[in-house]
Amino acid sequence: MQVCVLNGSPKGEKSITLQYVRFLELAYPAHTFVTCHISKKIAVIEKNREEWDFVCNVIRDADLVLWATPVYVQHVPSQYKRFIELLFERDAGALFAGKYAASISTSVHFFDQKVHEYLQGISEDLGMNWAGSFSAGMNDLMEEKSQLQLAAFGDDILSASCKRRPVLQVYPPVPRMTRSYVPGSLTGPVDTEGKRVLILHDASEDSSLGKMVRQMEGAFSGEVTTCNLDKIGMKGGCLGCVQCAFENQCMYTDGFSSFWKEQVEPADIIVFAGTIRDRYISARWKEFFDRSFFLGHIPRYTGKQVILLLEGPLAQVPGLRENLSSQFSGSNLVEIVTDEPEDSGLIDALIGSAAERAVQYAVAGVSRPPMFPSVAGRIVLRDAVWGDLRPIFRADHRYFKSHGLYDFPQYQYRKRISRFFFSLFTSLPPVQKRMKPAMKDHMIQGFARVFSESRVLKRLSGNKAV
Ligand SMILES: Cc1cc2nc3c(=O)[nH]c(=O)nc-3n(C[C@H](O)[C@H](O)[C@H](O)COP(=O)(O)O)c2cc1C
Repeated sequence: MQVCVLNGSPKGEKSITLQYVRFLELAYPAHTFVTCHISKKIAVIEKNREEWDFVCNVIRDADLVLWATPVYVQHVPSQYKRFIELLFERDAGALFAGKYAASISTSVHFFDQKVHEYLQGISEDLGMNWAGSFSAGMNDLMEEKSQLQLAAFGDDILSASCKRRPVLQVYPPVPRMTRSYVPGSLTGPVDTEGKRVLILHDASEDSSLGKMVRQMEGAFSGEVTTCNLDKIGMKGGCLGCVQCAFENQCMYTDGFSSFWKEQVEPADIIVFAGTIRDRYISARWKEFFDRSFFLGHIPRYTGKQVILLLEGPLAQVPGLRENLSSQFSGSNLVEIVTDEPEDSGLIDALIGSAAERAVQYAVAGVSRPPMFPSVAGRIVLRDAVWGDLRPIFRADHRYFKSHGLYDFPQYQYRKRISRFFFSLFTSLPPVQKRMKPAMKDHMIQGFARVFSESRVLKRLSGNKAV
C-alpha cells in the first residue's frame, strides 16, 4: 500500500512529527511512504505549477493520506492552512475522494484535539473516509509504551484502508452563506474615553467583513487604528525554529515584532476581524497567530478587551467558536459578532453594543473568569514551561516566575499545613459522622462572611448593611 504523508511542519525533514512517521515507515516496511514537505515548500507549491502537480500526483497514487503536523497555536501551521485553502480553491477534491485519511501530530497537548477535529472535518469535506488520529507529546517516542501505541495506530490505519473499513461521517458539510451585510445607521459612536482601539482585519473593501470593519470603526469616536494584515509587515509564516525562546526575539526582521510592540501591546481594545475559510479563519490570520509565538507562552492579551468580527457560518463549524474564544490569552472576550443574521439591522446593533461594552469594560477594568479550556490550558503550559521547556524557553521562565504564574500548591505553605491538619481531623470517623449530614451547610458557610464584610458589596449598596 502507498501512504502519502503531507508534512505540515515548516521544518521539513527536521520535523519532530516526521520522526513519528519515520517510526511507522520502519515498523511497516511492506508499505511505501512518500512524503511531501507541504509547509516548508508552500510558497513554491502555491506559485509553481510543477510543484503543485507533483504533490497532486503523490496524492493521486496513494491509498492512504496521512496528515502529519505539529500543533501551532491551537491549530495547524499557517502554511499547512494555506495548502488546505488551495485544495478547495483549485478544486482538488477528486484527488482525495474515496481514499482513507488519518492524522498524526506532536505537541505539548495544548489544544491538540482542535487539529485532529479540523483535519477530520477537512478530510470528510474532501470525500475521504476517516481512519483515525494520533496525538503524541513531543518526546513520547522515547518511551516504549508510546512506541507500542504508535505501532498499534499504524496497524489500525493501514488495515482500515486495506480492508476498507466502514466509517461514519462525523462532521456535516459547512453550508455556503450567500447573503450580504448591508450596513445601516448606528445609534451614535461611543466615546473611547482615552482607550486605544485597534482593528485588525483580513477583509477586502466590498466584502461583508470590510463593511463590518468600517461600521465598527464608526462605532467609536476616539482614537481608532485600523490595519489590514497584508500591511503589517509579515513576510512569511513562523518557521518553528524556536530561536525566539531565549529572549523573545523573532529571527524574522520584517517589522512584525515592531508592529506588535507599537500597535498591539498598547491597545486597550482589539477587534479581530476575520473571514471563515473552510473550517477555520484564513491562513493569513493563522500566520498572525503563529508569528505571535515569538512571545512564547507568555499571555499576550492580558487586560485587553477583545471583540471578534467574523464573516462566515460560525455556528455551522463545530468547535471553531470554542477555539477562537480561547485564543486570546489573558483578555476579556466582549462579543463575537458574525454576519450570519439575515437582518443587517441586527448586525449593526450587535456592533454598536459590542463597541459600547468594550469601552465600558476597558474603563472599569472588567474581565470574566476563564472557563475550562483556558483554565486547563494555562495549567498545561505552566507545567510544560516549568518542566521540559524551561532550559530553552528562558524568557517564558523568567516571565512565569516574576508574574507568579508558577502557582503550584507547594508554594502555599500556610494552606498546605492547614490542609494537612484539616485532613487529619476529617479522617476521624466520629468527625465524619457529624460532618456528613451537614455537608451542604459546610460548603456554603464561608460565604456568610462575604455578605457581611465584602467591601465591593458595601460600595455597590451605598455602604448600607447588606
Ligand atoms: C509557533 C509554535 C506554536 C506552537 N503552538 C503549540 C500549541 O498551540 N499547542 C501545543 O501543544 N504545542 C505547540 N507548539 C509545540 C509544537 O507543537 C511541538 O514542538 C511539535 O512537536 C513540533 O513539531 P515539528 O518539529 O514537527 O514541527 C508550538 C510550537 C511552535 C514553534
